[in-house]
Amino acid sequence: MTVFECKVCGHLEFDKLPDICLVCRSPASAFKENAGAINQPADATELNDSEKKHVPVIVINKQCGLLPGSGCTDVHVKVGETPHVMTKKHYIRYIDLYLDHVFLSRTWLSPEKCHAAAGWHLNADSGLITAVENCNVHGNWISEASI
Ligand SMILES: [Fe+2]
Repeated sequence: MTVFECKVCGHLEFDKLPDICLVCRSPASAFKENAGAINQPADATELNDSEKKHVPVIVINKQCGLLPGSGCTDVHVKVGETPHVMTKKHYIRYIDLYLDHVFLSRTWLSPEKCHAAAGWHLNADSGLITAVENCNVHGNWISEASI
């Protein structure tokens, strides 16, 4: 998977460049390929304490409580298995969500009053969900799960 990073806002795109950045509207020329844009756990089967606080956890629920009968799929993402702190000095800035590696949405989070978590209601009943979170101190971390 090729990773392109917007040098203006940090948004990541996978495999091909968009016409413009879907987060900050910068032109495609703002993107640079960056294979190191996402942190990877040393051993995905045995996370260390820091990795447990950063690797997103994706929870998928096909029984949407907000839009019952609509075929809505709920996607909840928390950071991480051990909840990440949300202080002014150290917090999760945002969580980006993708379906089949196509960007859907960014949820911005404020320190202190937001948990390190977000939820989406998708009009989709299959596909690969990718969540990328950005910690203001420790950078980008990724998880994927199938609907
Ligand atoms: Fe962090």
